Amino acid sequence: MFPRDFAWGAGTAAYQIEGGSQADLKGPSIWDTFCHEKGRVFEDQNGDVACNSYELWDKDLECIHQLGLTHYRLSFSWARLLPDGTTRHVNQKGVKYYNKVIDDLLSSNVSPMVTLYHFDLPQALQDQGGWKSPIIAVLFDSYAKFCFQTFGDRVKLWITINEPYVCAKLGNEDGIHAPGIQEKGTAAYLVGHNMLRAHAMAWHSYDSVYRREQKGEVSLAVNSDWLEPLRHDHEEDIAATERNRAFTLGWFAWPVFVTGDYPEIMRCAIEAQSIKVNYSGASRLPRFTSDDPVILGTADFFALNYYTSRKVKPGQGVERNICMKSDRNVEEVLDPSWPICGVSWLAVMPCGLRKLLKYIKETFNNPVVYVTENGFSQVGMLQMEDIQRAGYYKETILEVSKAIQEDGVDVRGYFAWSLMDNFEWADGFSVRFGLFHVDFSDPKLRRTMYRSGKEYSNIIAEYKRNQCK
Ligand code: GAL
Repeated sequence: MFPRDFAWGAGTAAYQIEGGSQADLKGPSIWDTFCHEKGRVFEDQNGDVACNSYELWDKDLECIHQLGLTHYRLSFSWARLLPDGTTRHVNQKGVKYYNKVIDDLLSSNVSPMVTLYHFDLPQALQDQGGWKSPIIAVLFDSYAKFCFQTFGDRVKLWITINEPYVCAKLGNEDGIHAPGIQEKGTAAYLVGHNMLRAHAMAWHSYDSVYRREQKGEVSLAVNSDWLEPLRHDHEEDIAATERNRAFTLGWFAWPVFVTGDYPEIMRCAIEAQSIKVNYSGASRLPRFTSDDPVILGTADFFALNYYTSRKVKPGQGVERNICMKSDRNVEEVLDPSWPICGVSWLAVMPCGLRKLLKYIKETFNNPVVYVTENGFSQVGMLQMEDIQRAGYYKETILEVSKAIQEDGVDVRGYFAWSLMDNFEWADGFSVRFGLFHVDFSDPKLRRTMYRSGKEYSNIIAEYKRNQCK
């Protein structure tokens, strides 16, 4: 059972679907650059064309109709709207494109949820230091204001930044996402810090300038696995789980929802490690100062991306060098009974979502929650009759309903990832998350509904039938 006006959605992100990488004055983003460097992405693939949603938006809209979605989550390409990242030059063709998407959605009774930043920084801004540079917060705020001003009469749900954790860590510590930086133990904390500052500035702009008239809501989307101690009765495993939470969900949710600052456990672990290895630089986890925007309270709802679960125990021996791994000092373990589906990191755990939702309710003062991403991937042989994924959606959605009914979590919406197969970052097109299959060998990039899409559409249809009673 789901409450009235529950949002049934699916998500995509600009770089993963749009293509049109150089169309109509679009500026390059860090993912354009990254993909064109050898060896970065599976088989050196790229998002130059992807699902070509820039030209085939009508086809996406048909998919949205077929599923019966009430909401669609998309992201704007910053560099398509503002080719050099600044409001000095606005690409009117980009504005026209997103206006059409939004208007088409609304005229079919589908509400857009728009993400302003989903991994694709304009390259021009990366060239000036990107997310490592403090000035980025001001530039992001200008971009956000431009979007609120231009589209906010119709868009009522905004996500500023998608998964700052992934941007910071995979892009700047591990170097496996754009911009491919591997400055261990420093850059990711700085990037995360500037992302929080940027998010908060944009939220304050919305709150003070646009909210009264536009009446929308703004948040940032945080990703988290469900984490639990490997051995529930072992103090070290419990402590390791807490530490792991602090370095993942807590890193971004704690400042926004609880204290305005990073979790103490995280700061202490980083400081202790700096001392241990005689690190002489300034504090690696930056501090918010009185010049920074207030971070606490800058989310109108909790946007959660959930995919999988992990068991946690302490790390094995601390490395002597500076890196996030040794700051965190945990080891994540997969329970052998959990099936792995598609990508190796995705252990299938629908019940982890319910546990995580309950944890969020208890830890972050019972916020309104939207599950902004959740899904299941396919690799290798194409399976249109993806019975396992269909079952996964059914089971996971049941867990969400239990979280609402039995645990009293205030969940207002669920967004499957993803509307259709797309460019899955460093995995290129080898990993398929879609409710629709996209035939990338077909020049028309035909979209065909998987069995799991049918399942999801049945769930939505049943909900709508019950609402009418
Ligand atoms: C998320 C990301 C999505 C999608 C998904 C599946 O981290 O926001 O863009 O790629 O993972 O891996």
